[in-house]
Amino acid sequence: YVIGFQKNFNEELPYDNEFTGLKDRIVIKFSHVVAENSPKGLAAAYFAQRVKEKSNDRIEIQVFPNGMRYSEATEVAALQRGEIQMIAPSFSNLNAIDPAWMVMDLPFAFKDQAEVDQALNGELGKRLSQTLDPYGMKGVAFWSNGFRQMTNNARPIRKPADFAGLKFRIQPSQVLERQFETLGASTISTPFNEIYHSLETRTADGQENTISNIFTKRFYQVQRYMTISNHSYLGYAVIFNKSYWDRLPSDAKLVLQEALEETTRWNKLKTYENANRLNQLQQTGDIKITYLSDDERKLWRERLRVLYPEFTPIIGSDLMDMIQGP
Ligand code: LMR
Repeated sequence: YVIGFQKNFNEELPYDNEFTGLKDRIVIKFSHVVAENSPKGLAAAYFAQRVKEKSNDRIEIQVFPNGMRYSEATEVAALQRGEIQMIAPSFSNLNAIDPAWMVMDLPFAFKDQAEVDQALNGELGKRLSQTLDPYGMKGVAFWSNGFRQMTNNARPIRKPADFAGLKFRIQPSQVLERQFETLGASTISTPFNEIYHSLETRTADGQENTISNIFTKRFYQVQRYMTISNHSYLGYAVIFNKSYWDRLPSDAKLVLQEALEETTRWNKLKTYENANRLNQLQQTGDIKITYLSDDERKLWRERLRVLYPEFTPIIGSDLMDMIQGP
């Protein structure tokens, strides 16, 4: 799928987004594509609750989960038009606006969540957020999901050679496309809420995702094998329509900022849910789980290392220096 982005966006927003006084009730529509019981879905609900409490019911965050209103392909354009005021796309969905975001998709770029947090709380996070401004978007936080794992229907995957000839569903990202090509597989890019169907109909043999996404969207019903590879990271940029944000009354902005900070901290705790979800996945008995040995992981790393020199000219060596790498 292709994401609808428009640069230098400054269309007038509809009248109902105007604030005429500090006492106005404020309704913020927040659209996302994942399940309500996933780290992003839970964070969205927590954020809505904290905002409601902190604003004494003056500000309402209306959450639209599961891509019920907009898919990844249409949510950015809807945000720019002011139909919704808030989204939290995953990093891969922002590659199309600036190649800087590709750095987050590189396999084995981060050892663990702490390394990701350090990068996003520092210069890298600042540089990534800045790329949103020309698109009329304001980045206000980064939320986490966790590391990606591989699932497929053909065979347990341990070694790079096990990928040969398989087709994987990916998000629209050159890095992810090249990752699978380098492993001898092909790719097809589909919106998140079409994954189940494409696996069921064998349009794709496999896909990569976090444990919580695999569990909450029941991919285990249509996939036979899962490899715990933790090969790359899946996180989110929390984004407001910029002109909407800029025109919010300052006291409302303060409430939102405080609630965002609390939610971001809380979301970090919830990403550990991935461990519980792994137990639940195991209990379904529907999917055979393979754990990579250190030696096997090393083989993946060695094979995928070629992506680093390949993407350095696209991403820029200054940003590449901000991650640890394989
Ligand atoms: C995917 O499309 O696989 C995920 O990025 C969806 C999400 O937002 O977690």
